Amino acid sequence: MLPTPFDPTERFAYHLDAQDELAPFRQQFVIDDPDLVYLLGNSLGRLPVAAASHIHQLVHEQWGKRLIRGWNEGWFTQPNELGAKIARLIGAQPDEVIVADSTSVNLFKLALAAVQAQRGRTTILTDDLNFPSDLYILNSVAHLGGPDHRLQIIRSEDEIVGPAEQIAAALNEQTALLSLSATVFKSSYTYDMAALTAQAHEQGALLLWDLSHAAGSIPLELNSIGADLAVGCTYKYLCGGPGSPAFIYVRRELQEKLNNPISGWIGQNNPFAFGLHYEPASGIQRFLTGTPTMLSLIPLAAGLDLLLEAGMDRVRAKSVQQTEYLIYLWRQFLEPLGVTLKSPLNPAWRGSHIAFGHPEGLRISLALKELMNVLPDFRQPDNLRFAAAPLFNSYHDIYQAVIRLHNVIDQGLYRQYPTELPAVT
Ligand SMILES: Cc1ncc(COP(=O)(O)O)c(C=O)c1O
Repeated sequence: MLPTPFDPTERFAYHLDAQDELAPFRQQFVIDDPDLVYLLGNSLGRLPVAAASHIHQLVHEQWGKRLIRGWNEGWFTQPNELGAKIARLIGAQPDEVIVADSTSVNLFKLALAAVQAQRGRTTILTDDLNFPSDLYILNSVAHLGGPDHRLQIIRSEDEIVGPAEQIAAALNEQTALLSLSATVFKSSYTYDMAALTAQAHEQGALLLWDLSHAAGSIPLELNSIGADLAVGCTYKYLCGGPGSPAFIYVRRELQEKLNNPISGWIGQNNPFAFGLHYEPASGIQRFLTGTPTMLSLIPLAAGLDLLLEAGMDRVRAKSVQQTEYLIYLWRQFLEPLGVTLKSPLNPAWRGSHIAFGHPEGLRISLALKELMNVLPDFRQPDNLRFAAAPLFNSYHDIYQAVIRLHNVIDQGLYRQYPTELPAVT
């Protein structure tokens, strides 16, 4: 898809939709309120129509009728089968990815496993753009690693661009593990994963990627860049549903060298022998811990199948075009009202969401929700994020988000809202 010169009319948004070869995918999602502007595929993807029927089938046909027989009729292998689908989206082998637990728990498992395998190395390296849960967990891992271990957090200069050069400079023979979000949650900055992987390896460090904002939004080539370890959530661009389980990637050659520190029975070599001693299963299986959560695993196939059908190259091409369009409209309608851009301008350095800044971000987000039928996403202190999820977002969605945001600010509609934070933003 060639970049399009944009124009600021609503007619042009419709024209872009008419030309969009991925537009028919929108019909594969439940769109209950066509007027609602939902640019939150970076938080919770929309419900795929097929996901609802997968759940119905699981509950009524499998659980309801087959009862415990379901485990031998396809349930037990779901973590592997879904992992194999995710592997195709992230450039990995089917036996290198498995679905289980949450991103936070998986990060803990892989980070501690990596640190324990890197004897004599005592530093874990990360940046301050990483998701807070990751920082808390890496800190715990450093404590559990031993009295000499420490977490070193490299600061970004502007809270937008990742400090790649400083990270490269901080890597040394003491570094056990570097762990970063490939696409960072606030600014959408996206690291050069191949370059950092090579730099980490030169110093003998392992690299653990959090792909939560990258999987399903940018094409990933974990094998070809020699990636070691990764985790990621499935409820954002993969549309797995609220709280759907996360995935774990471990490069094949590392699988037998790492031990899962939460060594539960489902990661045991022969769980149904009920032996008293833990013997890890071979391969990716050892990174499982407890019983697969079937109710939340089953809908995930629907979103993955849609992404595989669309192809990540086409998804990325549309995502770049949509975020470019959003930035173009920002210049036309929002920059003159004092809204700043808090994402990289160069599409090569960002994922599929764009962050804007405004000192009244919180109250603006409340007005968007209550007066404008735009579901907002506010991140402290002043970030408003809008994501293009190419499978279900139209160009008209983007146009409407900007016009409604413009109206809220231009007419001062946010002034009637309080300045206190609600529980979930
Ligand atoms: C980048 C990133 N990492 C980790 C998490 C935490 O995921 P979970 O709550 O599923 O453990 C999130 C949650 O949104 C996230 O955005």
